[in-house]
Amino acid sequence: MKLTRRGWFAGVGALVGGWLSGSGVATWAEERSSNSSLSVDGFRFVHMTDLHIQPELKAAQGVAACLHHIQSLNPKPDFILTGGDLIMDALQQGEERASMLFDLLKKVFRDHNSLPVYHCMGNHDVFGWGKKQGVTEEHPKYGKKMYMEKMELERPYYAFDHKGWRFFVLDSVQPSETELYQGGIDGLQMDWFRQELARKPKEMPAAIVTHIPFITVTVLPDSAKEGRFQIGSASMCAGAQQMAQLLADNNVKLALSGHMHMVDEVSYRGITFACSGAVSGRWWKGVHKGFPEGYAIIDISPANQISYQYIPFGWQAVES
Ligand SMILES: [Fe+2]
Repeated sequence: MKLTRRGWFAGVGALVGGWLSGSGVATWAEERSSNSSLSVDGFRFVHMTDLHIQPELKAAQGVAACLHHIQSLNPKPDFILTGGDLIMDALQQGEERASMLFDLLKKVFRDHNSLPVYHCMGNHDVFGWGKKQGVTEEHPKYGKKMYMEKMELERPYYAFDHKGWRFFVLDSVQPSETELYQGGIDGLQMDWFRQELARKPKEMPAAIVTHIPFITVTVLPDSAKEGRFQIGSASMCAGAQQMAQLLADNNVKLALSGHMHMVDEVSYRGITFACSGAVSGRWWKGVHKGFPEGYAIIDISPANQISYQYIPFGWQAVES
């Protein structure tokens, strides 16, 4: 059973442990028998984004509930890929609060998850750019340093391989002179990404995850203002056309993002660009513009076909 958007509110129970009996499996079986030269099996992973964990609004319980929902899926995912905005928040908070939130995030994952996790950074995970609570650029954990230290990462971007696919976790949050941040990839990271793509075997499929989307339609319905469509530089990444071309040229088939707390799946230049809603919905205050608290399941078939589904985990907000 493929859950359509219309089915979001009705099909949750049936999905957990139940969807395997649907037509998707038959398709996979057919693909497997018709293309026996492929040695790589299909696999499943989940993309959970915009957790915004905090002690308030039962957010930690919500993240735990989401993790249990993910681990009860059948087939079980191989790993969890997060999409940033892990905490609420570091951008405009003091060190004590920001540090406590990262520790809370790690505790909830430690206590409620046994799957491998690959973290991606969002704008709310950057410490101190809001220059509030006395935080300055001289602070030793300023900017992305606190995130990297807490997540034990040397850089906020990295790559890993899984069953014949390469995944690139990118840092899409850049400083801005006029806003708190803007979407994009800095030059140093772009050099690294181009080198990594050049090093990747051409036939090897790949995926990227960024917090801020490169291409999304979720920004459009609310962007008509004063007779024109206006989209802020904090909503989407700059350089989308060049990035889409680069991805298409290098067999990158999937580009996952978060940030919008809304869901879409866009095909452009043969790449699936998908925005995976939010675990926190409307920042733990209920459904956001009709999009419930949820996460995405991505199934990769043995022939490397992508199936994307957004799955609500049935959370009831304490306040809405
Ligand atoms: Fe967010």
